[in-house]
Amino acid sequence: MNVGIIGSGTMGSGIAQVAATAGCSVKLYDTNTAALDNAKAALDKILNRLVEKGRIDAGEKSRIQDNIQYVDSLQSLSDSDLTIEAIIENLEIKQKVFSELETYVSDDCIIASNTSSLSIASIASSLQKPERCIGIHFFNPAPLMRLVEVIPAVQTSKEVLDKSVAIINNWKKTVAVAKDTPGFIVNRVARPFYGESLRIYEEGLANFATIDWSLKSLGGFRMGPFELMDFIGNDVNYTVTETVFTAFYFDARYKPSFTQKRLSEAGYLGRKTGKGYYDYNENGKVVISNEGEKSHNDKLAQYIFDRVLVMLINEAADALFLNIASAEDIDNAMTKGVNYPKGLLAWADEKGIDWCVSKLDELYNEYHEDRYRCSPLLRKMNRENKTFF
Ligand SMILES: NC(=O)c1ccc[n+]([C@@H]2O[C@H](COP(=O)([O-])OP(=O)(O)OC[C@H]3O[C@@H](n4cnc5c(N)ncnc54)[C@H](O)[C@@H]3O)[C@@H](O)[C@H]2O)c1
Repeated sequence: MNVGIIGSGTMGSGIAQVAATAGCSVKLYDTNTAALDNAKAALDKILNRLVEKGRIDAGEKSRIQDNIQYVDSLQSLSDSDLTIEAIIENLEIKQKVFSELETYVSDDCIIASNTSSLSIASIASSLQKPERCIGIHFFNPAPLMRLVEVIPAVQTSKEVLDKSVAIINNWKKTVAVAKDTPGFIVNRVARPFYGESLRIYEEGLANFATIDWSLKSLGGFRMGPFELMDFIGNDVNYTVTETVFTAFYFDARYKPSFTQKRLSEAGYLGRKTGKGYYDYNENGKVVISNEGEKSHNDKLAQYIFDRVLVMLINEAADALFLNIASAEDIDNAMTKGVNYPKGLLAWADEKGIDWCVSKLDELYNEYHEDRYRCSPLLRKMNRENKTFF
């Protein structure tokens, strides 16, 4: 099949690699020819490394390279069966590109967006045939992350949804179908990992190193929240939180943190600037743990882990309660999109729904803040003695 990809930056070039590896004939388009050259050079480097490691042979490498054409006009995508847009995160610009693209492609071409934060309905509204528009949301780096969220807009036809899911499954990815709501699944359900950890820090209960250590050692998370925010970039992570918070009409559960805002304003963005919650050397290794070393306090570690975990579970339960996605897709999204050690709903079953409700009620009774209110689904399940799986 012919796949057109618009934007050859971080995401577009990764998606092109995935589609070309799956045997599709790919055209990768960008307005900036330097970005196209960079994408080509980066792919050559990645493929050479895969050959060195013995993951692919030289024949496979040239097959993947031959499957990608680098093009500098949108019209070149006219023979596409599917297009995926991965350009700048700006609604007006995306809408303009979509309405121009529609004049070139055939009537049954699927027109998809990789947007992280815009509504698919608003992007689809720029098309004459909005039923062909859908969200196909990859995670970074696209060739490595197994999850793809597929997001039908209110306008999307069932046929386009089914076809899109089949294509992405063919590309050897795990699909989670999500409702067209802010943050879809992953960027919504993961918010407390950062937000609750920042809140615990701001209350003066523990420093960055202690919170990271608690979640890694007791929860099995590969990176602690502060290490992860430094890795993602405090500017990027703060913007996602602020966007989700605003899009949810300022729901207190998603309130951004001043600590992170100040780091972002100061240019302490994390690994990419050498300074964030930690200081890094040129190899990206931590040299100084700012705000002190971890305090080895088992009781405090358990409190931190329980509090962050139960807030994550509450968010996952609420996403199910509001039909954002199925229980299986919510758990798959977190294990395959952000590498959580377990699905949050399976984790809730393991801890006990009664444990979740009582931990949340303890927090609510302490703070009387809306962010700690227990999901009605957890409360109902507890009453009825039910589990998620
Ligand atoms: N970076 C991530 O972690 C990530 C993850 C998931 C989704 N996304 C989403 O993917 C999209 C792209 O993000 P990115 O990080 O790859 O951005 P990027 O800045 O790395 O790349 C964007 C590319 O689009 C090109 N471009 C801009 N306007 C264009 C136009 N009108 N026509 C053609 N090309 C144009 C730019 O030249 C650039 O090469 C955004 O919508 C973003 O929200 C990003």
